[in-house]
Amino acid sequence: MARITAGIGTSHVPAIGAAIDLGRTADDYWAPVFAGYEFVKAWVKDNTPDVVILCYNDHASAMMLDIVPTFAIGFAEEFEPADEGWGPRPVPTVIGHPDLAGHIAEQLVIDEFDITIMNDIAVDHGLTVPLSLVFGQPEEWPCKVIPLAVNVTQFPTPSAERCWKLGEAIRDAVECYPEDIEVQVWGTGGMSHQLQGPRAGLIAPEFDNAFLERLAAGPDGTSELRGITRLDFLREAGTEGIELIMWLIMRAAMGPNVDELHRFYHVPASNTAVGHVVMKPKAQFRHKLGEVEARKATAA
Ligand code: DHB
Ligand code: FE
Repeated sequence: MARITAGIGTSHVPAIGAAIDLGRTADDYWAPVFAGYEFVKAWVKDNTPDVVILCYNDHASAMMLDIVPTFAIGFAEEFEPADEGWGPRPVPTVIGHPDLAGHIAEQLVIDEFDITIMNDIAVDHGLTVPLSLVFGQPEEWPCKVIPLAVNVTQFPTPSAERCWKLGEAIRDAVECYPEDIEVQVWGTGGMSHQLQGPRAGLIAPEFDNAFLERLAAGPDGTSELRGITRLDFLREAGTEGIELIMWLIMRAAMGPNVDELHRFYHVPASNTAVGHVVMKPKAQFRHKLGEVEARKATAA
């Protein structure tokens, strides 16, 4: 059976991608940001998964605002980097895993998540910057990637609680995929930031650090994160702070308790903070495994 072996949370600031692509990572401004990713770059060499389910958001780069799915999953064999206005980033094509993506979509629909299918989607900085931060600048990405896009651009965005439940459902879906593969779930975006309006440049380190603290905690701590409302995000973490809901999908996919391997927080990068965590699910008794098996049988 497939297993979820780890979770990664990270900001996906586009200027970080530009710093990598332009060879500026050692600049005085950028060096402290990239120092926070030394751990994951070394760790992932021994912990490369077969597949990453990468929860991100498109920034109206590939999904124009004519259609805005709440949750969408990529079925394609390949995903090209999106042209975000300055040409596509010079990074490898992202290779998908249509079979696992199809299985997850089917299990999610059984679990009452009516997820949109993306048969053809280009992927923007929300997805490619985290790949660069973790894997560096390889000729080819070292694993397959299933893009899972979340609407954080147009109201109504999904709630924190809904994202949490999606993460739990993804975990159940992965754990009944019959192939013996290792899967990581990544959540990208955030942390507090606001890109426009009178509060442009807003950064809220207290909010961000409380979020990181609770993310590493067990059910008591995480239940507070599940209760953060869209208005809370807006007020406390700025208009784009809502991107943190993607981290909640990742965290819920880890199960109730995690071992946090690494945590990093730095201000500033471009006009936002940078947050990053690496965590592993704590070994735990899966009381729901029987239910997962039963659902699989229903689907057949
Ligand atoms: C910026 C854009 C993002 O999508 C983000 O998550 C953080 C910062 C920016 O334009 O600076
Ligand atoms: Fe973003």
